[in-house]
Amino acid sequence: MKTKLIEFPQMGDARGNLVVIEGKKEIPFDIKRIFYIYGADPSAVRGQHANRNSEFVLININGSSKVRVKDGKGNEEVFILDRPYIGLYIPKMLWKDMYNFSHDAILLVLASEYYDAGEYIRNYEDFEKEVNGYE
Ligand code: TYD
Repeated sequence: MKTKLIEFPQMGDARGNLVVIEGKKEIPFDIKRIFYIYGADPSAVRGQHANRNSEFVLININGSSKVRVKDGKGNEEVFILDRPYIGLYIPKMLWKDMYNFSHDAILLVLASEYYDAGEYIRNYEDFEKEVNGYE
């Protein structure tokens, strides 16, 4: 899978930490949208979709959460995000589940596209069919 963890430049000093993220530099796309999840139910599974066009970078800037990524062809990866200077790049057409949110988790998401509900695939079987090109 073409997922990858990205370590962002840290410009901290004695006054505290500072992490810098620039579109098309550390992030492999122009950032068009950001959203974030906080106060998530620790037993909830979010995501549960794939995107036909959007690429994402997920950064757990406080607390921790897990992300499971599937390619619809039998491959699966699980990432624990618990450091505010690490991002997980997820290219288009991968299935994503976010879960195991700590009570204090803040999951920041950078996206390559504006929101368009039509590019979301929310049924796993439909995703598998689209990825594998059969009906
Ligand atoms: P949803 O896709 O279920 O969130 P998650 O991926 O974390 O499980 O989105 C929840 C609601 O918010 C849903 O009604 C769609 C809406 N939404 C937007 O309007 N714009 C956005 O950028 C996002 C991410 C969600």
